[in-house]
Formats: sequence, structure tokens, C-alpha cells
Amino acid sequence: MRRKLVAGNWKMFGLKTDLGEIEKIAAAAAANPQVDVALCVPFTLIAPAVAVAAGLPIGAQDLHEADKGPHTGCISGAMLAELGATLTIVGHSERRADQHETSHDAWAKAAAARRHGLKVILCCGETEAEHNAGRAERIVQSQIEKSLPDLAGPEWLTLAYEPRWAIGTGKTPSLEDIAAMHAIGRAKLRTMVGDAADGIRILYGGSVTGTNAEAILATDNVDGALVGGASLTAEKFVPIIEAAARVSR
Ligand code: 13P
Repeated sequence: MRRKLVAGNWKMFGLKTDLGEIEKIAAAAAANPQVDVALCVPFTLIAPAVAVAAGLPIGAQDLHEADKGPHTGCISGAMLAELGATLTIVGHSERRADQHETSHDAWAKAAAARRHGLKVILCCGETEAEHNAGRAERIVQSQIEKSLPDLAGPEWLTLAYEPRWAIGTGKTPSLEDIAAMHAIGRAKLRTMVGDAADGIRILYGGSVTGTNAEAILATDNVDGALVGGASLTAEKFVPIIEAAARVSR
């Protein structure tokens, strides 16, 4: 049975004045040991978060595909590991849109993370136009095919299905649609890694809140949530952790 993972993605939010929230989230994670919790914070908060977040895995949101080199403004997996990060997101749709990253970039970044012992949350998901054109299935299959790192295994890889049109909009797909897309993701993983696909967690991301989390987390093939806005405060994030704990009983 796959343990639920509730991961927060703070995006470009958070200063040292927010470390108190991280302490409270770490306390809630410790109080709900049947669920895995992680927080992906801005680079600048990784080390301070690790210092206050006893036991809560702290991650990054991106890294460079190279281990070092003349890449102004970039950060490597070795640097993240040295800061105490234990995981990183790659291939987030905001990076695909804003930094023009491709699935091939996500593949190379996932491989770089792996070289430095970082776990990876690999994101996929269609845009609104692709969704409306009935192309979601093909887009997500193609993204997984092109970005899944070699020897992907459940001990270090998690997939996140995040329909772009559901991110930060308050809109979510129906539970049936979420189940269908996650089943498609699982089937695609199976064609690539065989039985290991059964162990790889697939998170849902996009407008998850304390109100809708329990139903989403109870949906077939949903092994957790990747949460943006509602992860920024303990007040909003802890109810999602608790919902995951309830469906894990
Ligand atoms: P929201 O939860 O704010 O919709 O963001 C989801 C997301 O992009 C997490 O990576």
C-alpha cells in the first residue's frame, strides 16, 4: 500500500518571518505519522527551514541539470543537498511556461537530482487549451514518456499530475476525471518501469484545500497532494495533512 504524501510548494513566497509556519507544519507532520509530509521552499529558505523543521523533509522547486559550471544564477543538486534539501520538484508547469522548460529538461534535471541523492517530484499536466481540445491524455502520456528518468523507482520518484488550468484558479477536475488521469499515468508508468509502477506515488495538484482534500485523497490512484497556495500557512495546510491521515486509517 502506498503511503500518502502531502507536499507543499511555496513557489516564490516566504521569508524568514514565515519560519514559524514551517515549525507548526513540522509539528503537524509529527502528529500524523501515518502520512508523509514535505515542504518545497524557495532556495533562500532551505537551510533556515531545515534548522527549524525537525524531521520534516525540506525540498527545492528546481535545480540545474549540470553538477556545476558557468550557469549564472542557477543552482545544482550538490548545492541543494549541502543546504540540507532531501527532495526537489522538477518540470512544474510554471517553469515550463515561464522558463520554457521541456520534458527533456525535466528528465535531465531529475537525473541530476538523483545523482545527488535528492528525491524527485516530477510534474506533468495539460493546459486549459489542451484540456478543452480533448488532448489531456495524450499530453500527459507524452510528458511522462519524455521526462521519466532512467531506473525510476518508488523509493526516489513521485509523479504529480497538475492540470495547469486548476493551478491557483480554485477550479478542480471532477473526481472521476482525476481518477481517470491518474489511471492513465499509472498505466503509462507500467509500460515504462513494469511492476515498479505500483509503488510510485502519483500526487494530484491544483487548488487543493482543506475542504476538497479528503475527497480527492480518497480517489483511486491518488497517493497524495502537491499543494501551492494552501501550503503557505499552517492554518490552511494542516487540515490537508489531517485529511490525508483520515483516509490513511
Ligand atoms: P495551487 O495549490 O495554488 O493551485 O498550486 C498547485 C501547484 O502548482 C503545486 O505545485
